[in-house]
Amino acid sequence: MRKHIVAGNWKMNNDLAQTELLITNLKRQNKTSNAEVMIAPAFTNLWQAFQTLKDNSIEVIAQNMHFADNGAYTGEVSASMLKSVGVHTVILGHSERRAYFNETDEILVQKVNAALSHNMRIIFCFGEELSDRKAGNQETVVENQIKNALFHLDANAFKNIILAYEPVWAIGTGETASPEQAQDMHAFIRKTVTNTYGPELANSISILYGGSVKPGNAKEIFSKPDVDGGLIGGASLKAEDFYAIVNAF
Ligand code: PGA
Repeated sequence: MRKHIVAGNWKMNNDLAQTELLITNLKRQNKTSNAEVMIAPAFTNLWQAFQTLKDNSIEVIAQNMHFADNGAYTGEVSASMLKSVGVHTVILGHSERRAYFNETDEILVQKVNAALSHNMRIIFCFGEELSDRKAGNQETVVENQIKNALFHLDANAFKNIILAYEPVWAIGTGETASPEQAQDMHAFIRKTVTNTYGPELANSISILYGGSVKPGNAKEIFSKPDVDGGLIGGASLKAEDFYAIVNAF
């Protein structure tokens, strides 16, 4: 069976005290589902979060990283730095990184390779913009994003890859893809992976949905056969809401 995963992407929210408070509240929540739970605080709070959650099953992950191991890259953080504070999973390719920080497929290939060479897990994000969907191009856009950044990899590398379909028009907008739209795209993604790597690998890979997932819509989205979890932004900043989503499985 594929892993169910619910990951909270805190984005640029929560200072140190707020991080500690939210983690304290997360620890108080009752988990009734089998989903793996992850949170992605800001870089400055990763070490503290890792320390606080040492004996807890919640995994602390990073929102981004640079592809170089070290060097003259002012303001950047490397895979080995992340690993040194206990982080083993990184989100790459988030649409905000692509849109505001000019992350191209070429840059993402380098980041993917760097993370894998450090034996890190990757939550790889992709998704179409509203104009793509209006033009009916969503499948082509998604297929290219996945192929361009991941399909140079050996099949073996995919044990460290989690896919996250995040239609840009649904991120932080309150507008969610319908459960059927999510299922259709997830099935298409699995078919795309099948065509290159075969059904066994494609059926083993977790595909998360992200974009305005809330306690009120999580159950229906997660009930779809090809939706294996969620990448949660806004609703991950409230412990009760986040766990209502975790427990929607
Ligand atoms: P949202 O963000 O849940 O606030 O829409 C999702 C994401 O950006 O990962």
